[in-house]
Amino acid sequence: MAYNIIECSNEVDFGAKARLAFCKAIRGLNGLPNVILPTGNTPAPFFQALKDSKVPITPFQYLQLDEYLGLPEDDEILFKNWLDRDVLSPLGITHRMAFNSAADPASEIQRIRDWYNHFRRVDVAVLGIGKNGHVGFNEPGSAFNSRARVAEMSDETWEANNKYWDREVPKKIITLGITELKLASTTLLLARGEEKADILYEAFYGEMTTEIPASYLQLQRNVVIIADKNALGRFPK
Ligand code: F6R
Repeated sequence: MAYNIIECSNEVDFGAKARLAFCKAIRGLNGLPNVILPTGNTPAPFFQALKDSKVPITPFQYLQLDEYLGLPEDDEILFKNWLDRDVLSPLGITHRMAFNSAADPASEIQRIRDWYNHFRRVDVAVLGIGKNGHVGFNEPGSAFNSRARVAEMSDETWEANNKYWDREVPKKIITLGITELKLASTTLLLARGEEKADILYEAFYGEMTTEIPASYLQLQRNVVIIADKNALGRFPK
């Protein structure tokens, strides 16, 4: 299988190794690198390491991965606002291809698809993985040729999101599809914790199936799994 594994011993190590792999992937490219970034718990140490580093980051363009649909643009829970506060502004990243949660969904999806059809360039996709194998909000059943679209979170994902924000979040979301994720020249898949061990194993060693959307990575070029020992618990030694 065409992937590399970077095993991490603790949060700090995870952040440092993810930062190194990321910097390596965006260094020396022609033009501004296009980078998909996830939200969630998993990337927190990675983002912290980027902010703590004394070495200035190579400027890149942030490409949004997913977003709640139908919230006012200044809502603090919007993923793009969260990333802005936590990562992009502190790092001085000003170029952004973000989604408009409050726009007419059909025209917003068209705009996103047109952007990807036109540029067709993703240098790095940094992704987390959901316990059911989702990537972005490509929930089980998402086709491997799915495109950017409005979709619905599974009950399990929705409840996890409600819990995270301590309020009821929209169930409808905008997500990049697996087609856009497949454009990535490098994919950094981040996973932490024992609760991800089974799904991480299934995604890479199980059947490639739309029931586990992350299993598209089995055929993807340049995949780097950056994970702690717990998440890699079922991988062959
Ligand atoms: C978030 C996203 C999701 C998360 C996944 C894992 O933007 O795209 O696919 O990466 O739900 O979330 P955590 O890291 O919180 O376990």
